[in-house]
Amino acid sequence: MRVLGIETSCDETSASVLEGRGDEVAQRSLVILSQDVHRIFGGVVPEMASRAHVTALVPVVEQALSDAAVARADLDAVAVTNAPGLVGALLVGVSFAKAFAFALGVPVIGVHHMEGHLFATALEHPEAVPPFTALLVSGGHTLLLDVEAWGQYRLLGRTRDDAAGEAFDKVAKLLGLPYPGGPHVERLAAERAGSDGRFRFSRPMVRRDQEPTDPDFYDVSFSGLKTAVLNAVKSSSSVEADRGAIAGAFQDALIDTLVEKTTRAARQFGRGRVVLGGGVACNQTLVRAMRDRLEPRGVRIFAPSPRLATDNAAMIARAGLFHLERGEQSSLDLNAFASQPIPGFVAA
Ligand code: KG4
Ligand code: ZN
Repeated sequence: MRVLGIETSCDETSASVLEGRGDEVAQRSLVILSQDVHRIFGGVVPEMASRAHVTALVPVVEQALSDAAVARADLDAVAVTNAPGLVGALLVGVSFAKAFAFALGVPVIGVHHMEGHLFATALEHPEAVPPFTALLVSGGHTLLLDVEAWGQYRLLGRTRDDAAGEAFDKVAKLLGLPYPGGPHVERLAAERAGSDGRFRFSRPMVRRDQEPTDPDFYDVSFSGLKTAVLNAVKSSSSVEADRGAIAGAFQDALIDTLVEKTTRAARQFGRGRVVLGGGVACNQTLVRAMRDRLEPRGVRIFAPSPRLATDNAAMIARAGLFHLERGEQSSLDLNAFASQPIPGFVAA
């Protein structure tokens, strides 16, 4: 089966062609156009994102088809992100996908963006398939899931406030770094002198006496950590000189928290694989920390390459293919939603 994937939920216009069945899927093409304009404003401006998708989408789709050497008539289905995200931005992709699928006489399937992130790693690592523990860390979401099988997602924990990527972006802003801040914070932290331990922030929501039945056993919270960074910046006599030490201390606290919660989930469910996804999975310090902690316990860590960790249409086509193979498809009244739970949640 050949599926065209379309992703327009935030500030990337992306299209991709995948071909295959089951877990044997080949990526034929992937085009990602990142909207650079938002850097001027230090964050995504929704109306500008929608307008940029309108101008970019047709050429991006045409490029994806041409890179894949696939004619429109050879497509078997169209998969499109329809939730969650910026509604105006999502609507551009959804309207296009419905019209395109209707014109070709093939099914259209709406895909949940976070379910897409769950499938991304499997495109590069054939062994990143269920059962596994999943940590999805993006600019808008932080989700810890136990994945028994594709389509069966047990939500263990989530953020109570800021998402992990959002915390990186806000801390970057406090330190005077450009948007999106994650890569800049990671780079600054890496440049910090090894012995520079002047700053240390407490690990949010991590206590030794927590039990699996406690509501905060798996949940995370990063707004207090952000405030701790703000206070450190305010009390610093030279932010310029302290930037690396503060960035490093922030990243240490955030990563320690994510590693601890993920370790709890893998141990509790006896999983031998952990799959990371979302833009923050680009953070090599996070991936290394997961490996250092979990590999000695026999748990393998799978992280996508940066191109598949951040928003892309290949992961949407992959999740769409899974649903299509189960006989599911959307109707032409498919709509876009700013928020929606991942389909397939099973009781915790
Ligand atoms: O998944 P994504 O591309 O978009 C959303 O769905 O939100 O994630 C974007 C987020 C941004 O917050 C960005 O700062 C973060 O991923 N990010 C990173 C790194 N690269 C991107 N965070 C930490 N370290 C990185 N190297
Ligand atoms: Zn995303």
